[in-house]
Amino acid sequence: MVMSNMPNQSLPDYSLSPEQVPLVGSLALDDTERSRLKAQIAEKLEAQGAALIAHYYVDGDIQDLAEQTGGFVSDSLEMARFGRDHKAENLVVAGVRFMGETAKILSPEKRVFMPTLQAECSLDLGCPPEDFAQFIQAHPDHTVVVYANTSAKVKAQADWVVTSSCALEIVASLKAKGEKILWAPDKHLGAYIQSQTQADMLLWSGACVVHEEFKAKALTDLQRVYPDAGVLVHPESPASVIEIADAVGSTSAIIRAAKELPNETFIVATDRGIFHKLRRENPGKTFIEAPTAGDGATCRSCAHCPWMAMNELRNLDRLLTDASYRAGNEIHVEPKLGLRAKMPLDRMLAFQA
Ligand code: 13P
Ligand code: SF4
Repeated sequence: MVMSNMPNQSLPDYSLSPEQVPLVGSLALDDTERSRLKAQIAEKLEAQGAALIAHYYVDGDIQDLAEQTGGFVSDSLEMARFGRDHKAENLVVAGVRFMGETAKILSPEKRVFMPTLQAECSLDLGCPPEDFAQFIQAHPDHTVVVYANTSAKVKAQADWVVTSSCALEIVASLKAKGEKILWAPDKHLGAYIQSQTQADMLLWSGACVVHEEFKAKALTDLQRVYPDAGVLVHPESPASVIEIADAVGSTSAIIRAAKELPNETFIVATDRGIFHKLRRENPGKTFIEAPTAGDGATCRSCAHCPWMAMNELRNLDRLLTDASYRAGNEIHVEPKLGLRAKMPLDRMLAFQA
């Protein structure tokens, strides 16, 4: 039996090279323009009967708009559930492409749009479906568990889809049934789940370009400056960073922990978009970004997902205003592929119901 908490040695490294990661950068809007755009977007969402579903990492104004217009802000698991259950015929997903695709797979009858389809994810990009098919073929006796941060073509090859909100419980239940697991694409999350469940797991070698940059040494140095701070870590981070955490979990688990733990200060190792919600919900507490190796000037490795940052008020407004832009940013999933990809997603949602 192969027991490994290390990435499968026979696989190439599927981490992205720096050239494959776009630079973060957007034009700042003044307050008047922001208010004007927000009011216009809210009106158009209502007029078009569209629900806005946003992830915690996107621009704070977009998160606010989602909540103010009857949409939703959440982690990736609850975004999927909300999109599936909402009666709107049009969904606007502000996040990254796999989130829009998931919404479409779960509700093929709805039209799903995104402010830009260029909003990718390094984990999705680092798991080419054809290579993944070979990995599965080489290990036919394994149950295939894929992270939600994958394309429809990868999900369509899986037995289970999981997010970081439910991965531990689902893998633990598979282990209890004696199943061996083939895991993709995040090697850090996979290693974390393996360490917690002792499941027999073969790991793909992808990584999140944001979380992989958090550094344990710099984090322990920062703890010396803030000795009373709690440390909250998303499990896409390296093991050395997870080891230091007071709480490890999905974006929603991090938000919960910030409320429940008694600390007044927290160092947070996840995308800095989450600070909007953390500060709103905990006005008396202080939140500090965990250190990365980034040099800030290029922001290649600062704690902000360059693809999440592509969701802006301007392209959201354009999506709702300009029909040809909207047509170019609608999610399409081939129906047969979507039906196959829906099966492991339905399993996940039923498991966590
Ligand atoms: P959550 O499922 O925790 O929201 O995470 C999604 C993600 O992309 C984290 O980088
Ligand atoms: Fe993907 Fe990382 Fe961005 Fe999340 S933060 S969407 S895992 S690249």
